[in-house]
Amino acid sequence: MSYTMVIFGASGDLTSRKLIPALYRQFQRGKLPKPTRIVGVARSPFTSEQWRTQLTESTAKYVKGDFHADVWNAFAENIHYHPGDIGNDDDFRKIGAFLNEIEGSIATDRVYYLSTMPQLYATAIAQLGKAGLNTEENGRRRVVIEKPFGTDLSTARQLNDSIHQTFREDQIYRIDHYLGKETVQNMLVLRFGNTIFEPLWNRNYIDHVQITVAEEVKVGRRGDYYDKSGILRDMFQNHILQLMMVTAMEAPVRYTGEFVRDEKVKVLQAVRPYRGSDFAENGVRGQYIGYCDEEGIPDDSQTETFAVLKLYVDNWRWRGVPFYLRSGKAMSCRTTQIVIQFREPPHMLFGESKSCRPEADRLVIQIQPAEGMQLHFQSKVPDSDMKLRLSELDFRFDSSGKELPDAYQRLLLDALVGDPGLFARSDEVEQAWRIIDPIIAAWKSPAAPTLHLYEPSMWGPTPSAEWMAEQGRNWFDVCPII
Ligand code: BG6
Repeated sequence: MSYTMVIFGASGDLTSRKLIPALYRQFQRGKLPKPTRIVGVARSPFTSEQWRTQLTESTAKYVKGDFHADVWNAFAENIHYHPGDIGNDDDFRKIGAFLNEIEGSIATDRVYYLSTMPQLYATAIAQLGKAGLNTEENGRRRVVIEKPFGTDLSTARQLNDSIHQTFREDQIYRIDHYLGKETVQNMLVLRFGNTIFEPLWNRNYIDHVQITVAEEVKVGRRGDYYDKSGILRDMFQNHILQLMMVTAMEAPVRYTGEFVRDEKVKVLQAVRPYRGSDFAENGVRGQYIGYCDEEGIPDDSQTETFAVLKLYVDNWRWRGVPFYLRSGKAMSCRTTQIVIQFREPPHMLFGESKSCRPEADRLVIQIQPAEGMQLHFQSKVPDSDMKLRLSELDFRFDSSGKELPDAYQRLLLDALVGDPGLFARSDEVEQAWRIIDPIIAAWKSPAAPTLHLYEPSMWGPTPSAEWMAEQGRNWFDVCPII
């Protein structure tokens, strides 16, 4: 058995910045199944040799200290390039012939990775079908599709329908790189591999949940894409809802792809839809000052670069517990964290004064930059009467000193060996759009909350904190915790 990963859009930034470094690192750690060939396809008329030379330079830059010429040379022997235009039938026939030639007669599992412009996904898939590259006579065929998967529910459905004409659902791997992050996976272990958290993980003990994905970067050179997308499509429909699903899901029967995905999708099905005034009351919109001066952004753009959504999951576990989802560009730091804010103790045993009054406990799970968690709990101030203070218990994933693998490392390997658990299923993607679509529509209408401007390097617009305070709560604006 051998493996081939065919990357369409091979000359793009994602390929050199993420895909090849991830595959190289897996090869270096001896985890890439042998042999695995990588075949790049793009319109540029490179030879394999020229592409390898380009990748040598970019990989050395992106993997830094992990780059070793001898390892790279051994890895690069399996890198090939074939020019091809997604719109050209003949090119697909030639690509097919090239793949057969390099694979020989050995059964080979093939992964077609679409790292092209999203507008080309449907055509590329149809072309694979037309050229017979989806047939599984001599090994499995899978296709990996990058985000964005559609721009709304109807385009996502159309895309699903058109892909399903060529590939079965179990052959389709929709990537959301947040699911490849170690701490996201560890969330399941934390919740379901221990007995101490899960009994508290419900409406009886949890006051609310905050999920924050803050980025320091601005939109940079992606203005053209970003202004049409905005933060709801760029971050909420995919990454943030994924984080919410792993936080809120029930325990799957077993840790296998379908059982996990069944439980995740149920969370989205239980999200209470917004109606009427909900659209204005349950969200905050912001745009960083200077956004309209960025390349590719219209002077009067109303696109949000910061948003907060308050969602409810209407089921037995979560009824009445708000999930505050927040993300922004140009924030004070880069951090992704999930804060489980527990309820206050039911009885103030140690007196009512501030120093005797316990604050509620809090579990902060930090997904990035460092990966780990912190438990905030009460302890007695030493040598005081009965004064309390909030203490912290830290846990770092990387205490071993080893760098955690990049999300793409895990996901590319899973796609190669055929484990779909960390990829989004069609119903999951459609449910996510079903939640986000009406909010996007309402935020473009007079029912939208005001678009607040904010200074870069802050935690978003000031009204976001005021809005939270009106509900008797505060954002946990600390970064990074560990
Ligand atoms: C991408 C978004 O999907 O995720 C970007 O398009 C965003 O706008 C990025 O910056 C964030 O990913 P990470 O892994 O850096 O948190």
